Amino acid sequence: MKAIVLREYGPPDVLRYEEVPDPVPRDGEIRIRVHAATVNRVLDVSLRAGHEQYRGPVLPLILGVDCAGVVDAVGPHVGRWRVGDRVAAAGVMPLETCAEDGSGYKGPQGMMGIKRPGGFAELVAVPACAAVALPERLDFHRAAVILRHVPTAWNLLMHVAELKRGETVLIMGAGGNLGSIGIQIAKNVIGARVIAAAGSDERVQLGRKLGADFGINYGTQNIRDEILRITGGRGIDVLYDNIANPAVLPLAFLALGMDGRLVTAGAHAGPNVEINFSHLYHKRITIKGRPGYTPADLPDCLAAAAEGKIVPQIERVLPLSRAAEAHRLVESHEGQGKIVLDPTLG
Ligand SMILES: NC(=O)c1ccc[n+]([C@@H]2O[C@H](COP(=O)([O-])OP(=O)(O)OC[C@H]3O[C@@H](n4cnc5c(N)ncnc54)[C@H](OP(=O)(O)O)[C@@H]3O)[C@@H](O)[C@H]2O)c1
Repeated sequence: MKAIVLREYGPPDVLRYEEVPDPVPRDGEIRIRVHAATVNRVLDVSLRAGHEQYRGPVLPLILGVDCAGVVDAVGPHVGRWRVGDRVAAAGVMPLETCAEDGSGYKGPQGMMGIKRPGGFAELVAVPACAAVALPERLDFHRAAVILRHVPTAWNLLMHVAELKRGETVLIMGAGGNLGSIGIQIAKNVIGARVIAAAGSDERVQLGRKLGADFGINYGTQNIRDEILRITGGRGIDVLYDNIANPAVLPLAFLALGMDGRLVTAGAHAGPNVEINFSHLYHKRITIKGRPGYTPADLPDCLAAAAEGKIVPQIERVLPLSRAAEAHRLVESHEGQGKIVLDPTLG
């Protein structure tokens, strides 16, 4: 099969489109014929570039932290899946989840594309318990993006922030992946009042288009003053961050109202941010970090997408062989939306 293999850290050109042996599904695994895999700023691009904190993986490695496609082969002791099933898989593949589904999976755990071969390939083997069935109405490209971002955003807003209908939430990085998804979950699934904030008018407009009630450009406006104006001085109930921009987050934090909650699963523009502890205790604020997701939410996330309540922002779909170009596009920080690689296109 063809795959994108990382043999050394470096610029996008180190990504090689190579012929490698087909993976053979082990006990408790399925093999997926990949139709879509997403390209990510931290997990793929920073890892490939060899940034110090991402140098854990053992090379050579097939990149790609998710995939959507069709079950192509089934290993021993897999009861749930049949060849031809439409599935997606992503993220951490914990043995505890696998233990519950009775598949007896005892193979390697950890994220695909980091600890085990990933989805930038024509074929990938994953634990059967890590796969999720795709609704008929969801195509592979959208499904891969949904699985990559929606469960994390869903977990943060639903379970960590416990955002309620009618509450006001500030979504930072409104034009980004977790931001654009967060707006739609907060508005279309929970029924909250949504303020979309971003560093450009274009990205604020995207947030408004996705359903946000208000928009703030924190590149040109004082985010604290704007929030207090919008909320009549009350402040926001939830601050959904995921960026840790030291120039913006401290001010936004000061607009959290009584019993406010700051939630986050990312810090790519930080990680160090100044926090006003006086405001923290006076307003009884909680700050919670929570990467990952709750596996039980996956069917709800996919159903919300199939119903059109959550529309992923896809900038471009490229053949797998153009992975280096995809990495350059993500690094350029110019686009709006996700780059998806499709190995069936070459
Ligand atoms: N499954 C997931 O999605 C998941 C799970 C766990 C953790 N995360 C983490 O969550 C974070 C957000 O992920 P994402 O995919 O939503 O990110 P993203 O779309 O690539 O970026 C989000 C926003 O961050 C701002 N930004 C980007 N680069 C920046 C820089 N160098 N300096 C300052 N601001 C910058 C941009 O907004 P403005 O310019 O408009 O401010 C951008 O729209 C990442 O750190 C990621 O690792 C994601």
